[in-house]
Amino acid sequence: MFISFEGTEGVGKTTLIRKIHQYFEQQGKEVVLTREPGGTPLAEQIRSLLLAVNHEEQMSHDTELLLIYAARAQHLEQVILPALVAGKIVLSDRFTDASFAYQCSGRGLSQEKLQLLNQTFVAKMPNITFWLDAPIELGMTRARERGALDRFEQEKLSFFAKVRAGYETLWQAEPERIKRLDATQNADVVFEDALQYLK
Ligand code: TMP
Repeated sequence: MFISFEGTEGVGKTTLIRKIHQYFEQQGKEVVLTREPGGTPLAEQIRSLLLAVNHEEQMSHDTELLLIYAARAQHLEQVILPALVAGKIVLSDRFTDASFAYQCSGRGLSQEKLQLLNQTFVAKMPNITFWLDAPIELGMTRARERGALDRFEQEKLSFFAKVRAGYETLWQAEPERIKRLDATQNADVVFEDALQYLK
């Protein structure tokens, strides 16, 4: 089983993933906890490039997309696919839906570019995706409390409004796979909601 977790900044993905990880481990299941961009040493290096704030050179939107997919290719080949073949449960903090929400909806890149990359490089989609949804302002306050903002977190609220709308579009298009969780609720309630879907 491959499960991904999505949402804008500060909606509580990490907390939910930790709880679900614990839940499966208590059942004696083997779980691989991973994230995107990242999940392997090389993909984590690419993540650093993506998140670094560089005032001297703006990263082009296409470069951003391709770096994300370079990291994803590495992550799929080295971590996700071998774990699934070995019968493990994979929990990934973000996957391809983030590219639709951030790069297409947020940055304005065409869906055709994304489709091409997905068709060419993504051999496996999650069985279930949890979209943690909360008003942008709430998440950004939480993100700011965590410390210095990265290159994405420094974007304007209008950018995150587009990202959130992107997730909503996906959720409406794929209700079987994508489950919306009300992330304004207490973390335990969000976890219980997620469990209902998992069961
Ligand atoms: P994080 O907030 O989950 O740590 O993710 C790091 C950032 O990467 C986050 O701001 C969203 C961004 N991102 C994309 O823009 N596109 C993607 O496909 C992925 C996986 C992440």
